[in-house]
Amino acid sequence: STYRIATIPGDGIGTEVVPAAQQVLDAVGSRHGIRFDWNEFDWSCEYYARTGRMMPENGLEVLAEHDQIFLGAVGYPGVPDHVSLWGLLVPIRRAFRQYVNLRPVTLLPGIDSPLRDVPAGGIDFLVVRENNEGEYSETGGRLYRGTPEELAIQDSVFTRRGVDRVMRYAFDLAQCRSGRLASATKSNGIIHTMPFWDEIFRELAAEHRDVETSEYHIDALAAMFVLDPGRFDVVVASNLFGDILTDLGAAIIGSIGIAPSANLNPEGEHPSMFEPVHGSAPDIAGTGAANPLGQVWTGAMMLDHLGHPQAAADVMAAISSVLADTGARTPDLGGTASTQEVTAELLTALART
Ligand code: NAI
Ligand code: MG
Repeated sequence: STYRIATIPGDGIGTEVVPAAQQVLDAVGSRHGIRFDWNEFDWSCEYYARTGRMMPENGLEVLAEHDQIFLGAVGYPGVPDHVSLWGLLVPIRRAFRQYVNLRPVTLLPGIDSPLRDVPAGGIDFLVVRENNEGEYSETGGRLYRGTPEELAIQDSVFTRRGVDRVMRYAFDLAQCRSGRLASATKSNGIIHTMPFWDEIFRELAAEHRDVETSEYHIDALAAMFVLDPGRFDVVVASNLFGDILTDLGAAIIGSIGIAPSANLNPEGEHPSMFEPVHGSAPDIAGTGAANPLGQVWTGAMMLDHLGHPQAAADVMAAISSVLADTGARTPDLGGTASTQEVTAELLTALART
């Protein structure tokens, strides 16, 4: 099969790790009869500096003609981060109803967690982050600027449809795994949206008696990610809570440079978008130090979503064998290898499978 993939390398290390992952995907694809027809777009902060927009006016229509979207990261000093987020990522996530942001938190063999006493395989769970609404809203405003009474208001929007669909996805996922689902809440402090979130969670729990559910306040949940990450199987969280939890998740599996993520339209009516958890890392851009594994793992998630689990498993096996059997690690994992050296080891490992 051939897939039309829109690639948006973006800014900074996005432009370094996306080509690395494309090489790996092409290599694994050729062994499984999968061809990627990559269509590259230079939409980025640099594009914004030239045009005043993060993507052209018909950008979403152009993307809609593709099977999936493969993105690096956007964001660069000089362009405010809310411009790059709201000018590109948020419109794509919303227009294509990518209401699930799926983020695996798995400690790979050969990597030491910064946490103490975590055995190999001791961290292996999935965070399901709501990706279309919640705390990331456009409504609110600022008043009385420059006066002592100055204030800012930001609304959160939680809809029954939006909460229900992301939670159903999480319940289904838990049913396919060990059957445990934890919900991130804060209904003690946030007294309208979070009790609503909890109510829907309990309704769905009653419908899914085979899933063992638990609810944690977000602060306690964050502590539990550090103190006892082995207890989790699937975690469902709102947009902001899920965002914060998954950077923490990335940290406990060794580096944000390896953490993958998928913005999924589970119904497959629209393209999904695959991008690593990390950003454009301006501090290391251009030095060759970017870890490509997060982008490559993200590519494995794309293969899975396209219905090629064996090809995805081959990519994961190559990542594991590079980590376990070679010294090829980028500086974020304590090594000295470059993006290209790690990529070359991945291609060698793939050729051996
Ligand atoms: P960041 O993830 O870019 O960097 C955080 C730290 O992790 C830095 O020290 C960086 O060097 C390191 N790091 C990140 N990815 C790495 C990799 N693959 N290999 C090795 N080290 C890596 O987050 P930060 O600094 O908060 O944001 C930088 C820019 O990226 C901002 O403009 C931000 O808005 C943007 N950003 C974009 C995202 C996206 O496009 N999805 C997501 C997160 C941030
Ligand atoms: Mg984030």
